[in-house]
Amino acid sequence: MRVTFTVNGRRHEADDVWEGESLLYVLRERMGLPGSKNACEQGECGSCTVRLDGEPVCACLVAAGQAEGREVVTVEGLAEYAKERDGSEQTGDLAPVQQAFIDAGAVQCGFCTPGLLVAADELIERNPQPSDADIREALSGNLCRCTGYEKIMDAVRLAAARADDSAQEVV
Ligand code: FES
Ligand code: FES
Repeated sequence: MRVTFTVNGRRHEADDVWEGESLLYVLRERMGLPGSKNACEQGECGSCTVRLDGEPVCACLVAAGQAEGREVVTVEGLAEYAKERDGSEQTGDLAPVQQAFIDAGAVQCGFCTPGLLVAADELIERNPQPSDADIREALSGNLCRCTGYEKIMDAVRLAAARADDSAQEVV
């Protein structure tokens, strides 16, 4: 079958998609977007997290056909997505949450980081002043199997504080 959906603001189409093919596979192997990672392919680790019509989902558990006609945002499109959402004059290629991960030393490995970024960005959009419990809950589906979560917590706190500062400047 053919599937057509919007990824990071651009219409994409893939042909000969098998009915059981995952959104993750189509993004990575057919659309040339390898940012979302395939670490478990069982919905356990969150490394494949993308936004589907705004909701964070594990792309490995979503059939590509379910994305037909819908809007997907991957880590590759996070900066542009944040820019449009926040109406900011953000410069450079990074979303604020990506910059916060760098500044807090929270960029750990290439497997967990993309999903953590997408999930953290969604949290701050939904809840601009998250408590530590809110952060832990929002990231509970994103596993790191090797390093730990303290720097990640610092990064999300930093991104939220910066977002709050910017909102107050606008007011
Ligand atoms: S690869 Fe999708 S949750 Fe692990
Ligand atoms: S899985 Fe990425 S740093 Fe642990």
